[in-house]
Amino acid sequence: MDAECGTERGFGNLACTLNCYDREIGFGNLERPITEALKLGERIMIPWLKPGKTAVITGGANGIGLAAARRFMSAGMNVLIADRDEAAMQAAVDALPKGTGALATMLCDVSDPEQVEGLRASAFDRFGAVHCLMNNAGTALGRPEPWEDLATWRRQLDVNLWGIIHGCHAFVPSMLDADGRVAIINTGSKQGITNPPGGYAYNLSKAGVLAYTQSLAHALRQRSDCPISVHLLVPGFTYSNMIARFVPQKPPGAWTTEQVVDHMVESLERGDFCILCPDGDTPPELDRRRIQWNADDIIRNRPALSRWHPDFAAEYEAFIKG
Ligand SMILES: NC(=O)c1ccc[n+]([C@@H]2O[C@H](COP(=O)([O-])OP(=O)(O)OC[C@H]3O[C@@H](n4cnc5c(N)ncnc54)[C@H](O)[C@@H]3O)[C@@H](O)[C@H]2O)c1
Repeated sequence: MDAECGTERGFGNLACTLNCYDREIGFGNLERPITEALKLGERIMIPWLKPGKTAVITGGANGIGLAAARRFMSAGMNVLIADRDEAAMQAAVDALPKGTGALATMLCDVSDPEQVEGLRASAFDRFGAVHCLMNNAGTALGRPEPWEDLATWRRQLDVNLWGIIHGCHAFVPSMLDADGRVAIINTGSKQGITNPPGGYAYNLSKAGVLAYTQSLAHALRQRSDCPISVHLLVPGFTYSNMIARFVPQKPPGAWTTEQVVDHMVESLERGDFCILCPDGDTPPELDRRRIQWNADDIIRNRPALSRWHPDFAAEYEAFIKG
């Protein structure tokens, strides 16, 4: 279960955004540099969130991916849902309202690079272009100790981290030829930032997603006229299938998947790189302090994960209270 809750915003990699959105910004006929608009806290148009554009969403048969599919379809986009759960995909097709765009599905296990390459080929064959790739498929497997159950460790990384790497390897070369602005959204987790004890393999997979997505954003930013903007979606505690497996009723503090997607769209409109989602349990300042404390473990030469070390309990409590 992805249990690290809370939010933070505003650590966006503006430079990538600048690279990718600079010519798209427009408020009416007014054309200004995006830097100016972002400084003023204004929103920018999301160039690809419109009728006729196409989104590919991995893990789109359930949860956050399904909510994104609904949102994109309501904007008139074509949506291709890729998932390994065939029954859930059929249920999604039945449940999604018919939009002006097309809805397609494809059985795909993101841990298999050949299947992901097949997904890319199908998407481009069917729609001619992909304007948003949402690498969202993820799973939370067991909670083995760091030295136990190699198969679970490997599978956790194969799906959550390699699935995203496979998606980018398959789609980025084609998306670089895009005619207009396009986006890649990789779904990470706060557990990949603060590494709370227990879900060690999951945390590692999501820490990898963070590092990989930062690298992707930077590497693409080096290219002149790069059409791709890169974003890291970091949901808070979200009541999806992943959580419902452990918690049969939605806890009041959990966000709905629709809230996450609403927040994602608002963050994209601001051009955020890191889309840190709030939830009902963790105020933004608490989240900021958790992240800060974790980074300070290295800077201050504290024991690993000192937030959970008894000798640091009082200091940590005082720190998060400010
Ligand atoms: N729910 C939360 O609190 C939370 C918090 C932080 C991050 N996340 C992340 O959000 C993403 C979406 O999760 P969710 O909460 O909507 O969960 P979910 O279980 O509702 O949806 C995940 C989807 O991914 C699919 N999937 C799993 N493994 C796959 C594979 N190998 N190939 C293709 N599809 C696969 C599943 O079939 C499912 O449809 C995940 O990456 C998850 O780690 C969730």
